[in-house]
Amino acid sequence: MIALVMGEKGLISRVLSAKYGAFLTFGTIEAGVVSAPGQPTVRDLLDLYNFRLIGADTKVHGEIGNPIGHVKSPHLYNAAFRSINFNGIYLPLLVDNVANFIDTYNSPDFAGYSYTIPHKEAGLKCCDEIDPHAKEIGAINCMIRNPADGKLKGYNVDYLGAIAAIEEGLRALNGSSNGSGSPLAGKLFVVMGAGAAGTALAYGGKQKGARVVVANRTYDKAKALANKVGGEAITIAELENFHPEDGMVLANATSVGMEPRSDQTPLSKNALKNYSLVFDAIYTPKWTRLLQEAQESGASVAFGTEMFLNQAFVQVEKFSGSPAPKHLIRDVLARYT
Ligand SMILES: NC(=O)c1ccc[n+]([C@@H]2O[C@H](COP(=O)([O-])OP(=O)(O)OC[C@H]3O[C@@H](n4cnc5c(N)ncnc54)[C@H](OP(=O)(O)O)[C@@H]3O)[C@@H](O)[C@H]2O)c1
Repeated sequence: MIALVMGEKGLISRVLSAKYGAFLTFGTIEAGVVSAPGQPTVRDLLDLYNFRLIGADTKVHGEIGNPIGHVKSPHLYNAAFRSINFNGIYLPLLVDNVANFIDTYNSPDFAGYSYTIPHKEAGLKCCDEIDPHAKEIGAINCMIRNPADGKLKGYNVDYLGAIAAIEEGLRALNGSSNGSGSPLAGKLFVVMGAGAAGTALAYGGKQKGARVVVANRTYDKAKALANKVGGEAITIAELENFHPEDGMVLANATSVGMEPRSDQTPLSKNALKNYSLVFDAIYTPKWTRLLQEAQESGASVAFGTEMFLNQAFVQVEKFSGSPAPKHLIRDVLARYT
């Protein structure tokens, strides 16, 4: 029997009804005008979730998080899958308990997931195998089921995406004069935040030979992360008066300044003048208050949208086994940021 389930968690049943041979599903003509909670619009079923392309062999993917309603990934991944003729679907997955979710959806057709706040560490605990970088970071943002034996392997591609965005920014600033090494090598690299994104950035900075400083609201977490990457720990309050040298690189990996509270910033404009480049992991909005004030203070900026795109390219390739349609993914994201 196939049941349609109400509410945000029920979206998976409404979309996958096509995969499991249901007689019908419900879609609304107008957003919000529903006869039962959680009904998607007909337009979303057809255009966002490629409903007419879903069949028994369609592989299921999705982003696991809580909350999840705001994420843009389904727009990017489903458009990408359609354009490369990959028989896959990508859903927003509102999950309370990752282990329960993974145990429940254990069919080989549930082929891969992205992970977002607050489940990146819990996702790591559900892996059968963990990529060495993800193991060191202690969090995953991508999980793939091996079709041969059903085992789940976890990866962290956040750090690759973030560091590539910062390196691109520094190369543009230096006129590509850094030879083949990383332009982060030897730089003083200040990472604000010690959560999953902060850990990925600090780890990536260390990998590239930067001198890492971790600044976090909660000092103990800054200290624990700094110890892990062989760096220095301070509080964000102390960072306000931290000016040891010019040309430093600053990365924001706190959630301060994210929509809907985009009037906020994690560090005052006054404290930004010694940085040559400021990166913000936040990608909604693209131009955070931090980046606007950094630019006004004379720093170059690097965008969280680039981090988001870089890691999306890698995940589309891991899910589909084909090269990611980068221009298309970039165009789709531009519509939503
Ligand atoms: N562009 C991308 O692809 C991408 C990928 C991943 C994440 N991100 C972004 O990165 C940000 C952090 O994500 P995450 O997964 O690392 O979250 P997380 O694990 O929950 O960590 C949140 C961090 O923000 C700090 N924080 C929260 N509220 C604060 C406040 N009012 N003042 C100062 N610090 C505060 C926390 O400090 P405490 O330790 O003191 O609580 C912690 O360090 C989010 O905005 C997310 O959207 C972007």
